[in-house]
Amino acid sequence: MSEMIIAPSVLASDFAALGDEVDAVIKAGADWIHLDVMDGQFVPNLSFGAPVIAALRKRSDAYFDAHLMVEEPYHLLGDFAAAGVQNITVHAEACRHLDRVLAAIKDFGLSAGVALNPHSPISQIEHVLDKIDLLLIMTVNPGFGGQSFMPTMLPKIKQAGQLISGRDIQIQVDGGITATTAPDVIAAGATNLVAGSAIFNHPQGYGAAITAIRG
Ligand code: DX5
Ligand code: ZN
Repeated sequence: MSEMIIAPSVLASDFAALGDEVDAVIKAGADWIHLDVMDGQFVPNLSFGAPVIAALRKRSDAYFDAHLMVEEPYHLLGDFAAAGVQNITVHAEACRHLDRVLAAIKDFGLSAGVALNPHSPISQIEHVLDKIDLLLIMTVNPGFGGQSFMPTMLPKIKQAGQLISGRDIQIQVDGGITATTAPDVIAAGATNLVAGSAIFNHPQGYGAAITAIRG
């Protein structure tokens, strides 16, 4: 297995200084930038969309990981591809034709991810394993940063590893990841950790936060 990927979620950053925040967290040792796109429908909150990401792309060559918390995102995939993201993750619960959406992401030449809400069984992705590069196990109900990690998701992360068994698919975990919860999710098999508030609100700065999460 390759190195652990740390993907700070800029949802917890200073939106008035978003470009500087992206640069600073990459300089502090982040591997990816996790971009939480919320539509106010699939989740009860709004964040930002492709134009903001396109603006960030102009000044950063970091790996952009778009987490689309969007109902039926198919029609928006081209906008995110054009904005310059490398990975697009969609929610299984938000796509009536998940297989088609994933195929479209691959057709744009991008990495494709599927996210599962806490209540969704791993079996939902059993028949799309050939089309995904990343499986995102939500460890909070999506929509907000700063929520508490759900330890009941640990067996699900293990189950994900068993289902993936040897395929080149990352297991990303998102929600309530801190230096305290990271060791358990890593032990359960996570290879990619998203963290928002634990990084952007860390009193000792972004570098110390990322080092603490890596363990
Ligand atoms: C939740 C988002 C997360 C969130 C993580 O809807 O998908 O990426 O920003 O924030 P923390 O790390 O604060 O739980
Ligand atoms: Zn996210």
